[in-house]
Amino acid sequence: MITEVLPVGRTGWAERFDHAPSDLFPQEEALVARAVEKRRREFATGRWCARRALAQLGVAPAPILTGGRGAPGWPPGIVGSITHCPGYAAAVVGRSDRVATIGIDAEPDEPLPEGVLGAISLPAERDRLARLEPGGVSWERLLFCVKEAVYKAWFPLTQRWLDFTEADAELRPDGSFTVRLLVDGPVSGFRGRWRAEHSLLVAAIVVPSAEARSGR
Ligand SMILES: CC(C)(COP(=O)(O)OP(=O)(O)OC[C@H]1O[C@@H](n2cnc3c(N)ncnc32)[C@H](O)[C@@H]1OP(=O)(O)O)[C@@H](O)C(=O)NCCC(=O)NCCS
Repeated sequence: MITEVLPVGRTGWAERFDHAPSDLFPQEEALVARAVEKRRREFATGRWCARRALAQLGVAPAPILTGGRGAPGWPPGIVGSITHCPGYAAAVVGRSDRVATIGIDAEPDEPLPEGVLGAISLPAERDRLARLEPGGVSWERLLFCVKEAVYKAWFPLTQRWLDFTEADAELRPDGSFTVRLLVDGPVSGFRGRWRAEHSLLVAAIVVPSAEARSGR
């Protein structure tokens, strides 16, 4: 499912549709030693996906610790993103000479709980949601999914918080989206792709590095 939203040939990726027990390095075990079983499982499944994805780039298995504000601590020269939700986990990684940042998110394709849309959206986004074809995709949840992917792509670039009201996302039925950032930073926005399948939504942003853009 995740490959459908990734640019061809630029990334390593892995996904799975369960949270079966997966091995962790002792340093990773220590990070979730006091966590409940559900959290341990999702963390371990995310690390399993991350190691698989890294192997596609030729990177040997190693602990992936937790860096600033919860972001994964990737090996030197690697950027990437991890997501997990009930029944799904995925990781996408790239080499930093080819990819500047990655943000992925997965959510159940279900309506948002009552009251959440108002907290995560701008009036302009709600106006655009109202114009999308009802039925099929949970557009409100997809907006949330896209904005979580935005934060995961934004944070490694800036080490800064980004509020839901600081990004204006436009979803398109063709599987693409664009995001305008309403704060100053190294980028003014993001483009990405989304997919609805298996009662899940996934969104991915993969920003090419300056070197990759200039064709070097
Ligand atoms: C961090 C956050 C985006 C995670 O999203 P989520 O849907 O709750 O959970 P997911 O399972 O999809 O993702 C969790 C993974 O995100 C990654 N992550 C956590 N914090 C991160 C950060 N600051 N930067 C990048 N990735 C981060 C981690 O890998 C984490 O998994 P792990 O702890 O097992 O390693 C979310 O909890 C959050 O804090 N959101 C508020 C900020 C935001 O979204 N702003 C909107 C801007 S438009």
